[in-house]
Amino acid sequence: MDGITVKHDQLTADDFIMLWGSVWGGAPTKEQVGLALKHSLFCVSLHDGQRTVAMARMIGDMGLCCYIKDVIVHPDYQGKGLGRLLITELLSFVKAHGINGTDVFVELAAVPDKMPFYEKLGFDTNSAQRMKMSYHIDRYGE
Ligand SMILES: CC(C)(COP(=O)(O)OP(=O)(O)OC[C@H]1O[C@@H](n2cnc3c(N)ncnc32)[C@H](O)[C@@H]1OP(=O)(O)O)[C@@H](O)C(=O)NCCC(=O)NCCS
Repeated sequence: MDGITVKHDQLTADDFIMLWGSVWGGAPTKEQVGLALKHSLFCVSLHDGQRTVAMARMIGDMGLCCYIKDVIVHPDYQGKGLGRLLITELLSFVKAHGINGTDVFVELAAVPDKMPFYEKLGFDTNSAQRMKMSYHIDRYGE
């Protein structure tokens, strides 16, 4: 899409929360997002003029495993190739910073209706099931 600017590691917590809210509603707190961005390996954001319109980030260890998180294109901008651009930018980061000649697992969890999007970009599924818990932190509780 013409006129889109790509930025690396410049996403603000406010824009993260805005984009999250545009597709999923209630967002994490600014403090949580700030910590998450600080500890991400890499974050890409796309901008239409002053407006932040898409984001994705990568967490991981760079040597063996990278994990894609929070791939979001604002609804006003979906279907124009920006999702593809986000993933291309993340993979370019791995190519630039991983160890040459080795394989790195690039993983993500996709909801079923988004799997075709990732398959178009070269991802496939395996038999492993994603296991998770929402772990509540209460350092001062009983
Ligand atoms: C999923 C998402 C990131 C895709 O971004 P997008 O900018 O709309 O996608 P693109 O325009 O770059 O599409 C790239 C290709 O994937 C296809 N595609 C995109 N979404 C698709 C879907 N849900 N099902 C099937 N194909 C899809 C497009 O048709 C396009 O195919 P083409 O290259 O053959 O024309 C976007 O819809 C989004 O942000 N959704 C809400 C948040 C979300 O669910 N994120 C993913 C969490 S797993």
